[in-house]
Amino acid sequence: MTALVWADAATPEEGAEQAAALFRETFDYEPRGVWSAPGRVNIIGEHVDYNGGPCLPIALPHRAFVALSPRADRMVRLVSTQTRAAVDVLDLDTLGPKGTPGEVTNHWTAYLAGVAWALDRAGYGPLRGFDAALWSCVPLGAGLSSSAALECATAVALDEVCSLGLAGTVEAPDDEGRKVLVEAAQAAENQIAGANTGGLDQTASLRCREGHALALDCRDMSTRQVPFDLGAVGLELLVIDTRAKHSLADGQYGSRRADCEESARILGVDQLVDVEDVDEASAALGGERLAARTRHVVSEIARTRAFIELLDEGPLEGVRVAVAGALMNDSHDSLRDDYEVSCEELDVAVEAARAAGAYGARMTGGGFGGSAIALVSADAVLGVARAVADAYEARGWQAPHFIRALPGAPAGRLS
Ligand code: GLA
Repeated sequence: MTALVWADAATPEEGAEQAAALFRETFDYEPRGVWSAPGRVNIIGEHVDYNGGPCLPIALPHRAFVALSPRADRMVRLVSTQTRAAVDVLDLDTLGPKGTPGEVTNHWTAYLAGVAWALDRAGYGPLRGFDAALWSCVPLGAGLSSSAALECATAVALDEVCSLGLAGTVEAPDDEGRKVLVEAAQAAENQIAGANTGGLDQTASLRCREGHALALDCRDMSTRQVPFDLGAVGLELLVIDTRAKHSLADGQYGSRRADCEESARILGVDQLVDVEDVDEASAALGGERLAARTRHVVSEIARTRAFIELLDEGPLEGVRVAVAGALMNDSHDSLRDDYEVSCEELDVAVEAARAAGAYGARMTGGGFGGSAIALVSADAVLGVARAVADAYEARGWQAPHFIRALPGAPAGRLS
């Protein structure tokens, strides 16, 4: 029996020191400060953000840390613990969107420099260049928004060193200003990194609050904080990182999005959130593929609204926890069968968790690998994790990693 692997978060002090030390070692002076931003898990509301639907993310305790100082010119020098030896140098005056001569070929640097590019374009520039060192404990490629964490840590850093006045603080975030930072971070992801994702991840990283889930309405990106203290009712949210490769830029995500846009066009609505009768819509769409995609989106929107209502009624106790679990299970099945974004590793994790007593389990994030989540009673967590690890071992797969998800703080400079 192999030991379970827990991917614990670094403390804010550890993370800040790692990033600052790398900065000093690389650039030979003290950084102006260290800013950080969390990864996220989405409890429910998957593949609905770009259809105008609701999502329900929490921020993870796992964060990306960016030690940064502004420069007098427009150059950007970047280093990360992953690429220690090499410093990437970019020029804000020449960098441009994917597919243009100024495109940034190195993926992670696109996330940081892209935010400065986007803020320039949004009318907050010309921004000063900067030196930055990055250290992150958000698992990479695990569907937990490691890239949004980089973008959002950079966004709050630039907000402060360029005196944009948009972010407020971690303790008192400025919601309206943060909306602008979300747009800049999303533009960096969409245009500079070239992944055409919706706004869920960046909104979660910038606008979630500690101890709360964020009810996000993607029709207008309005948000509401919903108390989410599973510990008080003896529950836990277990994240299972399958460690199966997850990439959003490889075409599958884009093709799902294109299916939704095509369906909306045929149905004569702006976005699929406006579909009222899913049976009528299916008949109008004709082909089974578009009908199935639309069925997922419409049903997921209804499930997410129901989940948010459950939380509004009170803590997840008694029958409410069973209902919440069932909504999560139905969400997974719909993503697997109608939306076709799951994979064997996710399905096995979800099945094993359910069989071991989870109230509900589902894939989270974009899919095609990445992570699943399970809603479990606190005294069953180890048993559920063990069941998933055993199922992986029996198939000869690499061991999954586990995280206990507690809703953490948004992007900012932690005091
Ligand atoms: C990825 C994207 C998000 C969202 C989810 C699916 O995480 O970045 O915008 O579409 O997939 O819900």
